[in-house]
Amino acid sequence: MRILFIGDIMGSLGREMLAEYLPKLKQKYAPQMTIVNGENAASGRGITEKIYKKFLQDGADVITMGNHTWDNRDIFEFIDGAKKMIRPANFPKGTPGKGIVYVKVNQVELAVINLQARTFMTAIDDPFTAAEALVTEARKRTPLIFVDFHGETTSEKQAMGWFLDGRVSAVVGTHTHVQTNDARILPQGTGYLSDVGMTGPMDGILGMKRPAVIEKFMTALPRRFEVVEEGRGLLCGCLLDLDDQTGHCKKIQLIQISPDRPFLG
Ligand code: FE2
Repeated sequence: MRILFIGDIMGSLGREMLAEYLPKLKQKYAPQMTIVNGENAASGRGITEKIYKKFLQDGADVITMGNHTWDNRDIFEFIDGAKKMIRPANFPKGTPGKGIVYVKVNQVELAVINLQARTFMTAIDDPFTAAEALVTEARKRTPLIFVDFHGETTSEKQAMGWFLDGRVSAVVGTHTHVQTNDARILPQGTGYLSDVGMTGPMDGILGMKRPAVIEKFMTALPRRFEVVEEGRGLLCGCLLDLDDQTGHCKKIQLIQISPDRPFLG
């Protein structure tokens, strides 16, 4: 199975990049499964039902989320019916939504798990304990397991990669919006990438308008951040080739599209 994973879709520019390039990427690489992180899709904060449906229409099979899951209140209205969307599994008990979804292509089943790290982030349940339980559950059904680990630090992400090595097909990080150059296959067969990077405006600061961010760093005063809605776009993702029998990752490859790295069809 070949999986295409596209990182944090940020605001309208990110949504436009996805709509424009997902069909082209599918044509070029022919993935059987496309996973998209959508937690910043609605002006950088959460996702709406309309956007969720548009992502599916654009060709996404699963939407993952993160720390901005609840930022757009729209989500409480539709999350229970959004079968292809998952939020971090280690949110406290009683939280709406789910953290794992099973999707099938031709008779082959893939489990997609969303987890959130804790270092420099909101205090939630332990992602390692949650991973242990969900991976044990998933492995009873399929060896093909993809984990989106939404987190701030490379150390916690590496720890998750090594913790799950050999038990899942891939651990790929999201949230920092900066693609890391450490794609590798761990010794027991798990594909690993600390962060896949974002899809959105390339000239903001992590996608936000620069002046307010710089001002906040200089003054430490509260500032309202807004997503850059025009200018140059960036798309970040990765491709993973998995062995359907063992679930092991055979190849992991980075994708970046921007004016600096134009898409070659
Ligand atoms: Fe995030």
